Amino acid sequence: MGSLGPARWWEDCHGLDLSSTPDIVSGRQPRAEMRRFLVIAALFVSRCGAYDRTFIEGANGNLGEALQFLREYDNEASSMCTRVTEAQWLYVTNITDQNKKRMVDALSLQAKLDRVSWQKAIQFSWSSLPDPMARRQLNMLALKGRVALPQDKQEELTKIVAEMKEIFNRARVCPFSNSASSQCDLSLEPELTRVMANSRSYEEQLHAWKSWRDATGPKLRSRFINYVEIANEAARLNGFRDAGEQERAVYGVDDLMNQVSEVWSTLAPLYRQLHAYVRSRLRSHYAPPHRINPTAPIPAQLLGNMWAQNWKNILDLVLPYPGKRRADVTSEMLRQGYTPQRMIQISEEFFTSMGLKPMPVEFWHKSLLERPTNRHVACKASAWDFCNRRDYRIKQCTEVAMDDLLTTHHEMTHIQYYLHYSDLPYVFRDGANPAFHEALADAILLSVTTPKHMHRIGLLNNITDDYETDINFLLEMALDKVAYLPFAFIVDQWRWQVFSEGTRNMNTAWWELRSYHQGVIPPVSRSEDDFDPGSKYHIISDQPYIRYFISLVLQFQIHQALCTAAGHIGTLHTCDIYRSREAGRVLADIMSVGASRPWTEILRVATKGSATGLDARPMLEYFKPLSLWLRVQNRDEKMIGWVTSEQDSALYEQWSRGGSFRVDNCITTTILAVFLATCYSRYGFSH
Ligand SMILES: *[C@@H]1O[C@H](CO)[C@@H](O)[C@H](O)[C@H]1NC(C)=O
Ligand SMILES: [Zn+2]
Repeated sequence: MGSLGPARWWEDCHGLDLSSTPDIVSGRQPRAEMRRFLVIAALFVSRCGAYDRTFIEGANGNLGEALQFLREYDNEASSMCTRVTEAQWLYVTNITDQNKKRMVDALSLQAKLDRVSWQKAIQFSWSSLPDPMARRQLNMLALKGRVALPQDKQEELTKIVAEMKEIFNRARVCPFSNSASSQCDLSLEPELTRVMANSRSYEEQLHAWKSWRDATGPKLRSRFINYVEIANEAARLNGFRDAGEQERAVYGVDDLMNQVSEVWSTLAPLYRQLHAYVRSRLRSHYAPPHRINPTAPIPAQLLGNMWAQNWKNILDLVLPYPGKRRADVTSEMLRQGYTPQRMIQISEEFFTSMGLKPMPVEFWHKSLLERPTNRHVACKASAWDFCNRRDYRIKQCTEVAMDDLLTTHHEMTHIQYYLHYSDLPYVFRDGANPAFHEALADAILLSVTTPKHMHRIGLLNNITDDYETDINFLLEMALDKVAYLPFAFIVDQWRWQVFSEGTRNMNTAWWELRSYHQGVIPPVSRSEDDFDPGSKYHIISDQPYIRYFISLVLQFQIHQALCTAAGHIGTLHTCDIYRSREAGRVLADIMSVGASRPWTEILRVATKGSATGLDARPMLEYFKPLSLWLRVQNRDEKMIGWVTSEQDSALYEQWSRGGSFRVDNCITTTILAVFLATCYSRYGFSH
């Protein structure tokens, strides 16, 4: 049963049904007429309040013509995709100006095709077509990107984003120990990232943190404001209230914002336990005068990462049982004479052991598995689909090391996904939602990372099966995944807020979210002349972020579903689905429908009905042993969580800006304090 019938979009809007007035928008009418309709529609939608909104939809209800269009689109878009992907591959595996130009040319041809196809797609009254697959394809095409903008505006947007990326990529800062001879030429990758990861000096990390923000934010701020305006304009032309609503619509659920907020608040207590434990360890490392207050947020530069989004680099400061370090698989790999080729074969065997597909011939001929010496390449690992149902490749400058072995499994999961949905029409050859590809690839790693799996593939002689090793393992996973939750959550909370409420006090809003959800504060005072969100590439390069949050949660749901299918007994974090044909079948079922079904339905089938949306419980279950351990560790902590004092929030809020801020903040702080007091009495003394 197709769930995309027209009624769905309007049911909460007091019975008004714009889809019954198709004469208003038609591809045959002049554009001005259409704009007027859209403005009216936008006004109407904004009154409706909820998710409901209009679609751009024309008068042509002829199914034959729609199918004809889709067939043509499928051919043209696939071959365009092949052409663009080949140009991109050529460039990233051989970085020259000439190759860049070829890639840019191909991309602009593709943009043209996208625009023309969108204009054709919206001429159909697709929501009333009797063929559900045609309906879904046209719906997905009509929702696409920024193509609704007039060409000059679209070019302006592209130009602004390109400028922002350029500023970001060219930003350089001075070293910490600034002698006369030293040059100010440190970039984010690799130098500053290394300082954040490896330095244990409060001042040096502060220097890297602040100079990176000084070198990016202020130059990006005005361009970003421009970008917000045009992105919103594109969204309105496409029938949305703002660009945030357009981004959320891709997920096809009415209440994405509520779903993610709910899931985050379910997971937040686990995060606060981790936060309290890490804060207490940092307190013992960073001696006075660098006070870390036991009831306050943590200074944002101390967590091993430029945005405090991943804490695994400070594992050495917080490892619970240093005597029980994870066995070093890398040295065993070297001892056994592993090669990149062998690592890829091991990954392939992981999938074939579950009845999934071997890599095709082209994959072995054309993948780039080692860093070439005769040219510049972009080494970030990636998996490629050339859209011709033949050609699939991995690009990875593989080193013989455990992390790289995990990466080959991750990238090969993407290839498995490509192979499984290769028979579908072009529009459906994609993840079930923007988070699915990553969620599957990371779910596979939850199996591959286990000591049990390393043992089964002959890289660990004996598994030390004791409590302390287990806790070390889970804490390391938590620094990677639990620590990331609030950051992955707030990036788009902030961006959606800017799209819907405007660009005033953007930096304050950013820090309110960071201190409230993430429990970090800036180590030095910030103002609206700063633009700290601009220190993050995804924000200035127009890349949606909520997918990372969704993928974090979803990977545990999928892991659990696969482990259930595999008949795993025992705690979730010890499950390895290797060699399970049953798990392989569940995986194949998820992958082979691509984006042709709603992801909620795919999830329902995969979990045998236990979930139809995001669900925090599998992640909580995975970390349960750690969460119990953390509570015991934290029993003497003054507070689980944090209160942002006035002194803290004065770092990023100017009171003079108007009374309302102060009131809001007081209320927030009070609510938080009451809440935390409750936590304290619940957990503080219970063990
Ligand atoms: C890299 O690309 C250039 C064209 O810009 C070409 O002349 C050269 O042969 C390529 N190098 C390799 C190793 O393929
Ligand atoms: Zn990936």
